[in-house]
Amino acid sequence: MRVKKAVIPAAGLGVRFLPATKAQPKEMIPIIDKPTIQYVIEEALDSGVEDILIISGRGKRAIEDHFDHAPELEAHLAQKGKEAALEAVRRISAMGNIHYVRQRQPLGLGHAVGCARAFVGNEPFAVLLGDDIVRSDVPCLKQMLDQHTRLGASVIAIEEVPQEDVSKYGVIKGREVGPRLYRVEDLVEKPPADQAPSRLAVMGRYILDPWIFDLIKETVPGAGGEIQLTDALRKLVEAQLLYGYRFEGRRYDVGYCLGYLKATVDFALEREEVREPFLDYLRRKV
Ligand code: UTP
Repeated sequence: MRVKKAVIPAAGLGVRFLPATKAQPKEMIPIIDKPTIQYVIEEALDSGVEDILIISGRGKRAIEDHFDHAPELEAHLAQKGKEAALEAVRRISAMGNIHYVRQRQPLGLGHAVGCARAFVGNEPFAVLLGDDIVRSDVPCLKQMLDQHTRLGASVIAIEEVPQEDVSKYGVIKGREVGPRLYRVEDLVEKPPADQAPSRLAVMGRYILDPWIFDLIKETVPGAGGEIQLTDALRKLVEAQLLYGYRFEGRRYDVGYCLGYLKATVDFALEREEVREPFLDYLRRKV
């Protein structure tokens, strides 16, 4: 079944990025001049998704405004003849079908995904987290969707991470069953480094069977007192096939300071107009 709907949870408090996230959504923090959530939405649309649901929450209105029309701004730019800026602004408000629902309390990622039940209905769907931005020739979600079509089962994105980092992620126990492909046998959220079942960490892209909504409903708070998606996935693997796919591409974890800085530097170096002077600056710095 073709996946046409994607869910982007964006209702978290962004504690790791305080104070920047006190009065502004973490998802609106830009890498250079584009909010992180826009990169993620572009990836979903480039992968063929038709409808996107953003799980919003208190203090997140800037996200809706960003993807809405901005008549005064557009009129101003048109009057001043700022064509490029006008085009950029118009392009954003024409981006796909974006819907919103509120998670009233940030009870965890699993709970946030559960808020998408009415939107998703009874079909497989994608989940994308804004903390992970992936640069790749084929969009990361498209790679996952291709696997989903081939396998006819839920697929989650995984990446090998250094041992000292496993405790930051959900980690899978799995068996390699093909190129880049693992059959997931178990998952554990944020394990201590010496107890992790592998170094294969779950990244922010999932293609899920709608049965996950029933499982989320039964899920009690876990790590950090939050209703964890990993715990619901754990129950899923008891009865259904779940695959982990080691996607091709470079992932940036922009949800914390160092990852954010790496993304900023790399993305800046891709920009023709700043590349040379910025390189020059970096060379002098190091
Ligand atoms: P994170 O744990 O990375 O985001 O959740 P956070 O809670 O905003 O950030 P920190 O950890 O406090 O710094 C992954 C994604 O899930 C969303 C977040 O917005 C983020 O995009 N999320 C998390 C929700 O939508 N609701 C929640 O209750 C928790």
